Amino acid sequence: MRAVVYKGPFKVAVEQVADPKIQHPNDAIVRITSSCICGSDLHMYEGRTAAQPGIVFGHENMGIIEEVGPGVTTLHKGDRVVMPFNVACGFCKNCERGFTGFCLTVNPGFAGGAYGYVAMGPYPGGQAEHLRVPYADFNALKLPQGNEHEEDFAMLADIFPTGYHGTELAQVSPGESVVVFGAGPVGAMAAYSAMIRGAAVVYVVDRVAERLQKIKEIGAVPIDFSKGDPVQQIRQMRNGDGVDKGIDAVGYQAVQPGEKDKEAPSVVLESLIQIVNPTGMLGIPGLYVPSDPGGIDPHAKHGQILLSFGKLFEKGLRLGTGQCNVKRYNRYLRDMIIAGRAKPSFIVSNNVSLNDASTAYEKFDKRVEGYTKVILKP
Ligand SMILES: NC(=O)c1ccc[n+]([C@@H]2O[C@H](COP(=O)([O-])OP(=O)(O)OC[C@H]3O[C@@H](n4cnc5c(N)ncnc54)[C@H](O)[C@@H]3O)[C@@H](O)[C@H]2O)c1
Ligand SMILES: [Zn+2]
Ligand SMILES: [Zn+2]
Repeated sequence: MRAVVYKGPFKVAVEQVADPKIQHPNDAIVRITSSCICGSDLHMYEGRTAAQPGIVFGHENMGIIEEVGPGVTTLHKGDRVVMPFNVACGFCKNCERGFTGFCLTVNPGFAGGAYGYVAMGPYPGGQAEHLRVPYADFNALKLPQGNEHEEDFAMLADIFPTGYHGTELAQVSPGESVVVFGAGPVGAMAAYSAMIRGAAVVYVVDRVAERLQKIKEIGAVPIDFSKGDPVQQIRQMRNGDGVDKGIDAVGYQAVQPGEKDKEAPSVVLESLIQIVNPTGMLGIPGLYVPSDPGGIDPHAKHGQILLSFGKLFEKGLRLGTGQCNVKRYNRYLRDMIIAGRAKPSFIVSNNVSLNDASTAYEKFDKRVEGYTKVILKP
């Protein structure tokens, strides 16, 4: 089958790889109809992880069940399904408590597994014609038959639940003021989720014009960090006040405001500590890594960042981090889509043939031509 294979920094290719096979009675094989490119893929694409050439990318997968193993009980050939980016067993100590992003079974020696991702276990990704889904009864969420809402449901594999997770970590509640750093897909979904949860006002910080435009269209307040310190800009708009809650949807490759492309891994966390009011909460779905050989200084190389922890303590701020436990939210978010209460596909900018993945990666990585969320079609 054809699949998107990582070849080295800034290079992917569509190549022939072996078809996936049922390896365990509870596996299923899915024929992919949509598989998205994620900002998380870019960390690998840019050579900023330990990913070695040969990985098949793709953790945001949706399609039609083609074959099930003899132990699968709830799924049948022809079912339309979307998979969380996490691979999880459903029965370990962490899965039992809903922490499926930290499954102890699927990636021995590590808490958490995923498709097509470095260090996340032996699970080839779904930017391909077919995908093997382990523990299929647990990991595949059924969708209504047909092809309605294809783009909306594709967002259930990762970014809609992950954005929602950011608001859950920050416990965004009705009437609150919220700032989201990053207007990429995750930031946009966090802002959208904050509004679904009843926030009074949501500020979203980025510098990419097309992304800030989408933010405006959903009724949030865009803040352009190329025009100056976002903390000051927000305080000015609020007569000096900060906000109740803050979300980091950028992660360790954050760019220093006011400078062209200087990386500043702590800048978003530091801004959150400054702008969130005492007793507030920070939700941090943006990715941070324990080791970053390409980091800007010796500390960053070891995933260590300098932060005003004293300020955080003084303000009594609480924070939550980590991979999203997609299973915890995806069924409910699916039902909001079906009921017409959520339409996350507003963030989708391009549907592209799998064969054109190489160009799509390049444009998404450069954040040019409006490339915000790309769905690959095998
Ligand atoms: N926790 C999880 O489960 C999970 C899941 C998916 C993605 N992620 C992570 O979430 C982050 C965002 O993902 P995405 O797909 O939206 O990525 P993305 O790269 O498309 O978006 C990041 C955005 O942040 C902006 N940005 C850079 N520096 C900034 C700054 N100083 N202030 C404000 N904005 C800034 C960029 O311009 C870009 O638009 C990534 O780190 C990704 O790895 C985490
Ligand atoms: Zn993703
Ligand atoms: Zn588990």
